[in-house]
This record gives sequence, structure tokens and C-alpha cells, in this order.
Amino acid sequence: MRDTNSIRGYQRSNRAHELTPEERALYDTLELERMPQHVAIIMDGNGRWAGKRALKRFLGHQQGAESVQYVVETASRIDLPWLTLYAFSLENNLRRPKTEVSFLMKLLKSYLISNVKRMQDNNIRMAYIGRTHELPQEVQDTMQWAQEQTAKNTGTTLTLALNYGSRSEIVDSTRSILRKLIAEAQQRGISLEDMLAAEGGDLALEHRIDEDVISANLYTAHMPDPDLLVRTSGEQRISNFLLWQIAYAEIFVTDRLWPDFRGIHLLEAIAEYQQRERRFGGLGESSDEDLSDTFPADAELARH
Ligand code: FPP
Repeated sequence: MRDTNSIRGYQRSNRAHELTPEERALYDTLELERMPQHVAIIMDGNGRWAGKRALKRFLGHQQGAESVQYVVETASRIDLPWLTLYAFSLENNLRRPKTEVSFLMKLLKSYLISNVKRMQDNNIRMAYIGRTHELPQEVQDTMQWAQEQTAKNTGTTLTLALNYGSRSEIVDSTRSILRKLIAEAQQRGISLEDMLAAEGGDLALEHRIDEDVISANLYTAHMPDPDLLVRTSGEQRISNFLLWQIAYAEIFVTDRLWPDFRGIHLLEAIAEYQQRERRFGGLGESSDEDLSDTFPADAELARH
């Protein structure tokens, strides 16, 4: 298991007193030792939110950007170390009309410019995952600026998944592993084939490529896997988001549309998460059943 705690020291802020009274009441019912360390959210329903009000889709996105800031602030007040938001998928980039993509890019840029001060006040550090090098240069410049401005912050890391697709992330991880192996062989002046053969062939592959190595080459190498995945607006889909990383995440789907989602709803998701028993493929604490009598004795089996 990767030790991601040592990668980054999170500093608790103890700012629960800044929650709204409603949030505080719910927060006080939570078990602090069982808080998730990483919450990932598929923000869905901006278009439907606008449609219900006979508004243009872009107004739904604009309202969605407001929700982002509310939720991020609550996350920082409850000392959530990692919050990852699916803001713009590779599929959005390829399949949405150019005007909508261009609006989302402008919205992202203006969100970053107008919120960096609030991020500083909340000790939030900005990060990104995805094929961000394919985004318009001016958006990349603003993203880098916001990241640099907040780089020294030690509270919640807000990661925006932008031009992100999980399958392409796994492709990129595989390419990066292979590139490193080729570079190592070149450095040692031998072929990749000879390098692996010298290390035992298949045995070398077992050592060179395992789950930890794949994780370490994903965009999320520096983060723990999400404990909780939230999806708004009722769809029961993962939509190519963090497929590898959510292997054992608890999933919480709410019918609430993203522009209506606030900090209190993040807390509701966490409260539900705390009701779940996480097993990671094991049996969990409530199962101490004795199975020794379940099967016929060996002697009985031998009679048949
Ligand atoms: C899904 O709504 C949402 C998106 C495609 C983008 C998410 C963007 C935001 C929340 C706003 C901008 C974010 C930042 C960080 C500034 P949809 O359009 O798919 O909704 P629908 O399914 O109801 O049509």
C-alpha cells in the first residue's frame, strides 16, 4: 500500500467553528476518527438545473462554479485533506459544442482568477489532473499561476480534473512506465529485452510492473485513493472518472443537481459514508461467524 501521508503533511486548521449552524449541527454528529481523507465528486446536472428554469445552459455552469467555491470552503473547514472535482472530461471536450467548451474554459479561468484570494484565506492548495497540456494556452497559464500562488498552502488540496479521462490516464501511465524502462536500458547501454532477461524475464516483469508501479505513474500518484465518491443529479454512472482509484471507494449518489449542492450536502454524504462498513474485499468487523460446521466432515464426503 502506498504511503501517501508522508508525501504531503496536511496541517489541521480546526476551523469547524466557521461552519454554518446547520453544517455545525451535522458535523458534531460525525465520528472524527472516521472522516474520509479524500472525497471525489462528479459534478453533474448544471444543464438540467438551467433547463428547469428555462435558462441557457451556460447559466447552469455559472451557478455550478458558485457551488464549487461553497463546497471547497466547507471541505477546508472540516479539515478534509483531499477534494477532487470532475470539472471537464475528455469526452466533454470532444463531444460538447465548441461554444459550450469555450464558455467552460472562460469560466474556469475567471473562477481561478477571482477565487485565488479566497483559496489563500482558506489555506487551499490547487492541483490539476488530466491532459491539461491540450487546453488553450491562456487557460494553462492561469492554472499554473493559481497553482503557484497556492503552492505553499498546507490545508485542503483542491484537485480539478480537467480534460480528464480515466482510461486515457491508464494509457498515459502505461506509456510512462515503458518510457522509463527504455530510458534505463539506454542508460545502461543494453536493449530493454536484455535488461529484463538479465533480471529473470517474467520475474523481472513481476517486480517492474505491479499495482504500486501503475499507481505511481497515474496523475494521482501523490494522493491517497478516494474514500468517498459523490455523484450529483441521480445518474448511476462513473463516467470514466478515477476508475483505478475508486476500486474500494464508497459511492454516494444524490438526486440534487450540482448547482444546488452546498457544504451541508457534502456533510450529508460523509454522514452516510460513516454508516457504511468498508471491507476492502475482506469480511468486515461484524462477521466472526464460525464456518467449521458449514461443510460436511471429510469422512462424510469420502462416503459419497
Ligand atoms: C455537468 O453538467 C458539469 C460539467 C460538464 C462541468 C462541470 C463544471 C462546473 C461545475 C462549473 C465550472 C467549474 C469550475 C471549477 C469553475 P452537465 O452540463 O452535464 O449537466 P446536464 O447533465 O444536466 O446537462
